[in-house]
Amino acid sequence: MRATLVFGVVLALGACGGFDEAEVARRGAAALMPFKTELKQTLIGALKEGPDAAIDACAVKAPEIARRASHDGVKVGRASKKLRNPGNQAMPWVEPFLDGIDAPRVVDLGDGRAGYLEPIRVEALCTTCHGAAIGEPIAGRIKERYPLDQAVGYAEGDFRGVFWVELDDVR
Ligand code: HEC
Repeated sequence: MRATLVFGVVLALGACGGFDEAEVARRGAAALMPFKTELKQTLIGALKEGPDAAIDACAVKAPEIARRASHDGVKVGRASKKLRNPGNQAMPWVEPFLDGIDAPRVVDLGDGRAGYLEPIRVEALCTTCHGAAIGEPIAGRIKERYPLDQAVGYAEGDFRGVFWVELDDVR
């Protein structure tokens, strides 16, 4: 009886968030889809052109792609605990998830806003620039441009960080 009561109260509080979690997850995933696809295609294309183009693709094009994928109360981006660019510092609501998540998450940001997160896993392709042994000339170019680089030493399958989405007006 008591357990049922407690469970009922938790459910009621959950509902007080005032939005439909499944709908937020659906909108979040839809917002990330073009960002992830374009990022990957740009990176693969740039890697064929050589190390400078590839590093530029990450440094210059990634933020541009994020801006383009953000619109009408929807903002997307990437964050990590081990940053290459200190400018990619996570928003406070994202920070608790940077130690690792296994599946997408929905977060209540209050005021009718919600966050959505997906884990970023390291693929073989990523270790070219984020692995334990980065070849030249890429290693040198990265050191030059990012003297504070921490985003190295990753292996395929490692948790690298998160894709995040902020959604306004989820009421
Ligand atoms: C050609 C080299 C290169 C490759 C390949 C590469 N990255 Fe990066 N990555 C960079 C650079 C350079 C930055 C810094 C971008 C900036 O200045 O915002 C970066 C930044 C990031 C960030 C943002 C957080 C931070 O550390 O600043 C994430 C997340 C990330 N990379 C994940 C990946 C993943 C996942 C892959 C594989 C799909 C990948 N990277 C492949 C060079 C690369």
